[in-house]
Amino acid sequence: MRAAVLEEFGEPLVVQEVELAEPRAGEVLVRLVACGVCHTDLYTASGADPSGYAPAVLGHEGAGVVERVGPDVVSLAPGDHVVTLFSPQCGECVHCVDPRTNLCMAIREQQNEGFLPDGTTRISRAGDGIRHFMGCSTFAEYTVMPEIALAKVNPEAPFEHVCLFACGLSTGLGAAINTAAVTPGSTCVVFGAGMVGLGAVAGCRLRGAERIVCVDLSAERLELARGQGATDLLAGGEGAVEQILAMTGGFGADYTFEATGNVAVMRQAVEAARMGWGLCTVAGVAGKGETLDVVPRLLITGRRIAGSSFGGVKGRDQVPLLVERCLAGEIDVEPFISHRLALDEVNRGFELMEAQDGIRSVVEFG
Ligand SMILES: NC(=O)c1ccc[n+]([C@@H]2O[C@H](COP(=O)([O-])OP(=O)(O)OC[C@H]3O[C@@H](n4cnc5c(N)ncnc54)[C@H](O)[C@@H]3O)[C@@H](O)[C@H]2O)c1
Ligand SMILES: [Zn+2]
Ligand SMILES: [Zn+2]
Repeated sequence: MRAAVLEEFGEPLVVQEVELAEPRAGEVLVRLVACGVCHTDLYTASGADPSGYAPAVLGHEGAGVVERVGPDVVSLAPGDHVVTLFSPQCGECVHCVDPRTNLCMAIREQQNEGFLPDGTTRISRAGDGIRHFMGCSTFAEYTVMPEIALAKVNPEAPFEHVCLFACGLSTGLGAAINTAAVTPGSTCVVFGAGMVGLGAVAGCRLRGAERIVCVDLSAERLELARGQGATDLLAGGEGAVEQILAMTGGFGADYTFEATGNVAVMRQAVEAARMGWGLCTVAGVAGKGETLDVVPRLLITGRRIAGSSFGGVKGRDQVPLLVERCLAGEIDVEPFISHRLALDEVNRGFELMEAQDGIRSVVEFG
């Protein structure tokens, strides 16, 4: 198959022929149809991620069709439409059986090293293994993934739409719906209007928030936030907290969300949360070694901070439900897709992202 391989950090991905072995027990062969290009792919490709590894096939926002299943696979069959889950759901581990978290423990260690659960790779070149990125490796015509890392979705949904639910969109939606569990009539502030922040805006709207303030540096992105349900748009920067306090009678917002990855903005999101009960949900991923600086008095006086990985979404159960809401017209994903690329143009997807040109480039497989 053809796949985009990270050969060396800081160099463009190299699209080439590699071999893919048949799925083993508990594994599934998926033919990819669409895949979003995400910051995490670029972060790893650049070499900035200290836990990165190469050679590896990147990509983790995939959607496709089940081609074949290995032994012991019970919940998927050829022809099923699936979304890839970098955050799996085994349904049995200590976290999967607890409603409070989505952090499945089943395959974490092997996945972090770039291996399938049995500690090997299915991808190879001239007999040498090529590692699986985030357990997905979806910048490729096919992938082999564990059954527990695939969500079966309604086949009526277009692949280019459902692939967005593999990462950023579900993360934002889930931050509002699951982690914060925004209450109807509340006031929300979302810092960042990228894929995650726009998803959070939509999630606040779906939860019935009355006022949704979106904060970003880009006027263009703020307009997209309006389309997702933001009622107020604010230019980010130094004075953002004061402006939010002024907009909320001096108190701050019931719920704030951080979706920038910038620790200074995380601090603003804490400071913009209301005394008494304001909840700040952090979704952005900070750089290695960075810390969040918060005055403890803000916590004593009733503000709380929560973190959210993949929006607290238990992928196999909840991604299909989010896709249904998309089909029902409750989530408008078309404005998020700014560019459609062939696999050979995947590096162009990185360039567009670095230039902040559009929200998502989607790789489409012929
Ligand atoms: N928690 C998770 O599971 C998870 C999943 C996916 C992505 N992420 C992280 O979420 C963050 C956002 O991802 P994204 O794809 O939306 O990124 P993005 O770069 O597309 O969006 C970030 C936005 O923040 C804005 N911004 C920058 N500085 C700002 C400031 N001072 N005030 C207000 N806005 C500012 C930018 O203009 C941009 O629109 C990243 O850190 C990403 O790594 C987390
Ligand atoms: Zn992603
Ligand atoms: Zn689990």
